Amino acid sequence: MIRDALQGLEVRDDDATLATYGHDESDQGDFKPALVVFPKDAAEVQQVVRACNTHRVPLTPVAARTGKSGGSLPIHGGVSMSLERLNRIIAIRPEDLTATVQPGVVLGDFQRAVEAAGLFYPPDPNSAPSCTLGGNIAENAGGPSALKYGVTRDYVLGLEWVLPTGELLRAGRQTIKGVAGYDLVGLFVGSEGTLGVATEITVKLLPKPNVVMTVLIAFTDVLAAARAVNAVLLGGLLPRCLELLDDVALDAVKGKGVPFPAGAGAVIIAEVDGTTEEGVFAELNLLAAIATKHGGLEPQIAVDRDQRERLWATRRMVSPALRELQKYKFSEDIVVPRSRVPEAIERFKAIGQELGLTVATYGHAGDGNLHTNVLYRSPADRPRVEQALEQLMKETVRLGGTISGEHGIGIAKKKYLSLEQSPQLIELQRRIKVMFDPLVILNPGKVFPDEH
Ligand code: LAC
Ligand code: ZN
Repeated sequence: MIRDALQGLEVRDDDATLATYGHDESDQGDFKPALVVFPKDAAEVQQVVRACNTHRVPLTPVAARTGKSGGSLPIHGGVSMSLERLNRIIAIRPEDLTATVQPGVVLGDFQRAVEAAGLFYPPDPNSAPSCTLGGNIAENAGGPSALKYGVTRDYVLGLEWVLPTGELLRAGRQTIKGVAGYDLVGLFVGSEGTLGVATEITVKLLPKPNVVMTVLIAFTDVLAAARAVNAVLLGGLLPRCLELLDDVALDAVKGKGVPFPAGAGAVIIAEVDGTTEEGVFAELNLLAAIATKHGGLEPQIAVDRDQRERLWATRRMVSPALRELQKYKFSEDIVVPRSRVPEAIERFKAIGQELGLTVATYGHAGDGNLHTNVLYRSPADRPRVEQALEQLMKETVRLGGTISGEHGIGIAKKKYLSLEQSPQLIELQRRIKVMFDPLVILNPGKVFPDEH
């Protein structure tokens, strides 16, 4: 019995716990594990992984359950292993510009600790109060500041890593630079919990920019807003963030957060950071001038920390508020080359119209990374929704894009992977998976299309 092999560990199998760990933010449904185990250190993680191999039981790593593609759902039952108890910040080293953490550290707690030391850790998938570093690494999380600062993979230097067969490995480095051997850390980041479990993570930090300024600029329509985003970047500016919200997204948050100017059919939120007030303010004004020239209405500059926070709170509200509009939704995270963003938005709206569905688009337009959401009212609409999603994915690939920019494939998008990747490439990745995990114990059924 696997239970005997888990002796001495915290194991729960009450209904409430099983229900909690069978659900995430992906809208992919509920999948209860048989039990949830809460290891407290790497040795206990190894014990769980070995037990699952011995007893041939599927094992799904999980923590905060904020994932958007179902990566931590135990779709084949078995054991869910929560990393939440491995929640220590082991070290922050200002002079080295690195930090080492356990995977269950909540991102918001880490950000606060890092900032207290005058440092900065940019990747943030917009769920910092709850998501964990381990989950961010599993999914290679991005977020609004990826435009200037890159995504999680750009920050992970080294790992202590429990392999799917139970051995403990150290990979990568503790230094900012380093090229020894294959980049296995890069392979691990974004592998969606299929190649092992990180028990210690060393990341790169940056000096904290002294000054950050944010501006909201409204447009009468979304295409003008999307074109303005490109004009800003062509104008030689690289803001920290360039976010876009279309009319449906604005409708969803109306009356809940910051007010939008009359006649707004879309907004962009741009954020600039740097060393001096004058420099940052000048850059923000230049950005606003470019946007205004491209149809932007009166820019609203957030002058202090409070106003900035209210703006971002409104932006964070978009995802839950869209669900309230029509009860059900699928949230995509496609990316197209920046030059194709206006065309993509137009095509996605048209797909919705043709199928009688509401399509909302918001997200990281500066990266070409769009959260296109298909909203629907009842499960009876599902076939039409599936049709819309498939068209959306095909259109994305046709435009030279990718089906996932930051949420991962998980189970949500595995049936679309072959639209983008060749059979040879998918087969090569399956072989890598089996090399690490010969019994296919760890997070089975994720990422790759079902084989029959
Ligand atoms: C966001 C998440 C959904 O950008 O990726 O809000
Ligand atoms: Zn996002």
